[in-house]
Amino acid sequence: MSSAFRRTVRGMRDLLPEEAEKLRFIEETARKLARLYGYREVITPVVEHYGLLSAKIGEETRKRMYVFEDLGGRKVALRPEFTASVARLVATRMRSVPKPLRLFSVGSLYRYDEPQFGRYREFWQSNYELFGSSKPEADAEIVALTADLLKRINLRDYHLKMNHVGILRGILDKEGIAETQQNDVMQLLDKKRWEDALKLVQEAGGSKRCLDNVRALLDIRGKDTDEVTEEMREVAQGYPEGLEAVKNLREILSLIEKSGVESDFFLEAGFARGLEYYTGMIFEIFVPGMDIALGGGGRYDKLIELFGGGIVPAVGVAPGIDRLSLALDKQETVPQKTGEERVLVIPVDDDMVVEAFGISSFLRKKGLCTEIEAMGRSVSRALSDADRRGITHAVIVGPREMRQGKVVLREMEKRRQETVSLEELHEKIGRNNGQQINTG
Ligand code: HAM
Repeated sequence: MSSAFRRTVRGMRDLLPEEAEKLRFIEETARKLARLYGYREVITPVVEHYGLLSAKIGEETRKRMYVFEDLGGRKVALRPEFTASVARLVATRMRSVPKPLRLFSVGSLYRYDEPQFGRYREFWQSNYELFGSSKPEADAEIVALTADLLKRINLRDYHLKMNHVGILRGILDKEGIAETQQNDVMQLLDKKRWEDALKLVQEAGGSKRCLDNVRALLDIRGKDTDEVTEEMREVAQGYPEGLEAVKNLREILSLIEKSGVESDFFLEAGFARGLEYYTGMIFEIFVPGMDIALGGGGRYDKLIELFGGGIVPAVGVAPGIDRLSLALDKQETVPQKTGEERVLVIPVDDDMVVEAFGISSFLRKKGLCTEIEAMGRSVSRALSDADRRGITHAVIVGPREMRQGKVVLREMEKRRQETVSLEELHEKIGRNNGQQINTG
């Protein structure tokens, strides 16, 4: 075997149990939240037509897609996000489903990004999309749900960076700058190449007034949402679409603030997202000490129409599971699990193996996580291994006790043991360990 095969492909990772547990903890929390807010899960394929995935993904992500021809000669790609697939469903098989329609997805995605901290070629997202409403309530719900998820996983000190693409697009539209050129400007802003963006506006035929206004817009940012939206409004004077966008952003923020969402906001008028389909409010999640977004979303009212599904306004968000996990690590937050017992059943000799098997399956039926000593080790060696692996209870099965329908139950941490009857075994284990334990 070539030594190259002993490593994963560049950018791909093996997740060992501890890492996998952390990802699954976030995934489970995200799934619970979906149920709580009425989002039903859809499972879409990892492989889709290239044309679908690339339609409005934006230049940057488009060139990072894993694209290949399948054996049937179709040009296909691995999904770099969920939104296009879910929008395809809403434009086709779910077209006649009454709106509002709330859909949730979770799974792996693929982008040929340059591997570095928090940037992988295979990564996980939880994804929430709300279809059918153009009202600010829908945008506010998506933002509130995001903040709720962050709170439930115990992320601290996060803020949501926010903007509305309609403000800049309103200004550029009035100057007659084509949508494709506007998209290029947005891509440059996404990469924080402000001067190049301004140069492009000029090259696209933007007037001096337009340039001055865009430049002024790029300087507007801050935490005080009233103050910042007022500055945005001043710059958008004379651009009806831009003014409408500022008004919409204000309505969304006011709803969020009044409904008591616990999050800090940072408005930035020059903030853009790499994906091209956004038409309204956009936002991303950040924490101090990490300059990569932990999640992002926004309103996209034209994608379903582009896929032939009629006019269906939409708004959504995709929190990145890997990056949330990294942020929790950085903040040294250990996911909490409530009272999970882990039992090891140890037969004292070969004659007791059948009994030990029976007891294991009985305990599993009672909902207890149970392993059996499968290496034929002595009781003392099995116990020291159990200690190392975080087993909470050992059940020692010996002939003397079994003759009376009993076993020895050992509480590993307290190093205490007693002889208990088989009938009361599962209750004893459950009762002894009802407190919270760390999984990390
Ligand atoms: P996105 O900003 O491209 O948005 O990705 C959302 C999140 O996925 C990012 O904030 C990040 O946490 C995670 N992510 C992206 N690329 C990588 C990577 N290479 N490695 C690790 N994590 C990564 C979307 O995908 C949109 N579909 C979100 C959306 C849903 N908008 C509306 N609805």
